Amino acid sequence: MPKLSVRDLPIKGKKIFVRVDFNVPLDENLNITDDTRVRASLPTIKYILENGGIPILASHLGRPKGKIDKRFSLTPVAYRLEQLLDCNVLFAPDCVGDEVKKMVQDLKPGDLLLLENVRFHAEEEKNDPNFSKELAALADLYVDDAFGSAHRAHASVEGIAHHFENPAGGFLMEKELKYLEGSLKNPQRPLLAIMGGAKVSTKIGVIKNLLNKVDNLVIGGGMCFTFLKAKGYNIGTSLCEDEFLDEAKTLLSNTKIYLPVDVVIAKEPKPGNPTRTVDASSIPADYCGVDNGEQTTNEIGTLIQKAKTIVWNGPMGIFEIDEFSKGTAKVAHTIAEATAAGAISIVGGGDTIAALSKFKLLDKVSHASTGGGASLEFLEGKELPGIKVLKEK
Ligand code: 3PG
Repeated sequence: MPKLSVRDLPIKGKKIFVRVDFNVPLDENLNITDDTRVRASLPTIKYILENGGIPILASHLGRPKGKIDKRFSLTPVAYRLEQLLDCNVLFAPDCVGDEVKKMVQDLKPGDLLLLENVRFHAEEEKNDPNFSKELAALADLYVDDAFGSAHRAHASVEGIAHHFENPAGGFLMEKELKYLEGSLKNPQRPLLAIMGGAKVSTKIGVIKNLLNKVDNLVIGGGMCFTFLKAKGYNIGTSLCEDEFLDEAKTLLSNTKIYLPVDVVIAKEPKPGNPTRTVDASSIPADYCGVDNGEQTTNEIGTLIQKAKTIVWNGPMGIFEIDEFSKGTAKVAHTIAEATAAGAISIVGGGDTIAALSKFKLLDKVSHASTGGGASLEFLEGKELPGIKVLKEK
């Protein structure tokens, strides 16, 4: 990693403010439904504990809008951490204030403290300098392992780092940067990007940036219909963002782009609707596209088999509904096979990770990014504030 790592810090006996991204999904009973992000930060936490440091963990959860809201408390994460680490986790009722200061003062090696949701204070998202200072005063060193939040210039991500001489990244940050940066800066070629998901608006910046770097770029999922319409095709009632038609038309002159040649359609994108496959140019007026057709899936498969590096962000269809999931499933399986055969695969985006989970292939790719918005902004070529602020090696 070009940035300083937790490995480079003299952590023995020191209190270390570790910004993690424990923004995990909870069900209505406040049970964690996916603890991937908690597990992903364990190597950093364990390393600090094993080397005599005292981790003070801080995170946001959800968007409580600067107010205390128990639905967004990190309490369930404290319990999950105890299970995962098999040790006692101290939980602070806030992230600043006298009670927290006292808890921090009393910490000794072997202890692990989790602070309450930093977004219970409006100052967090405002990157308020006094709030950053107050957070920083809790610790001797700063480690950022919250890749998923690195695109947010918030107090516990960006502002706080200025109060430390050597703000460093944790192991998760290191891994994310290794794969994401590696895929863009010095990839093994051919480099293939597969972009899917519902909206062109969220991916247009990524597509433009990646076109300068990749050998091939597949556009699938709901957003392909804006491109198909830009080609003059009939897309029926498929998703379309008309405001991007002109831009899509311009981009289509790039020969690296691969668009679906056939599409699975249904009258409505709902379970139980009968499907059929049609040519991508002629979706009937009262039908919508819900998945890639078989020929498209096979052609994408051939591109995957030839690629040495694969970046995948966004499903190929409405994979949550079984009858519309074949295209996404086949792409996921082919990427897993290519990875087993030596290709490097980097997968990002909440839906894509959920698809990999559904097909039980999460551990069959080289890297499943924990960043949603962060990995997209990274692929867009933006400098993320939470990374920029870390000290260069
Ligand atoms: C995420 O889930 O992408 C990160 O935790 C950032 O969350 P946010 O979009 O609420 O800032």
